[in-house]
Amino acid sequence: MHQRTLLIIKPDGVFRGLTGEIIARIEKTGFKIIAMKLVKVSKEQAAKHYEEHFGRDYYNRLIDFILSGPCVAMIVEGPYVIKKMRKMAGKTLAEEREPGSVRGDMSVNNLFNLLHSSDSPENAERELSIFFNEDEILDYETAADRYWYWEGQER
Ligand code: PPS
Repeated sequence: MHQRTLLIIKPDGVFRGLTGEIIARIEKTGFKIIAMKLVKVSKEQAAKHYEEHFGRDYYNRLIDFILSGPCVAMIVEGPYVIKKMRKMAGKTLAEEREPGSVRGDMSVNNLFNLLHSSDSPENAERELSIFFNEDEILDYETAADRYWYWEGQER
């Protein structure tokens, strides 16, 4: 199922110089980055983005953290990209993160977990519209497209 999702490399990823490594992992999957920018998230964007978590004990920490420095926001598209990118990011809790995932390989802290990834098609569309206008989203062909789509079929 063709989908698009919002990924955010959080301030710890930028401060630690891990943006290239994380973007490389995304590119290697064959999924397509169709929008990307370095952003200083505003308070309004942060509140909208994390509105489902308002009232949770970690909410203020989460907001302060996303506001603490630059982030790299991206829209990535491809078949089943939402589930695949969630798996690639890794579990929320540090103790449960699998080796091979971004968080499992590069983060041991519950809060500083490097990468946000949308958890459903509805949230993906809602979240990506907080950070991007439709005219910032590009349509182009990559070499990987021929492997995803063969004679019109999704593989
Ligand atoms: S849930 O319950 O499935 O909706 O939550 P989850 O998607 O796992 O987490 C949502 C975001 O909240 C952050 N989070 C935390 N931060 C700090 N401490 C604790 N205990 C904690 N629990 C959840 C988590 O990093 C998620 O942030 P994003 O940016 O969405 O990855």
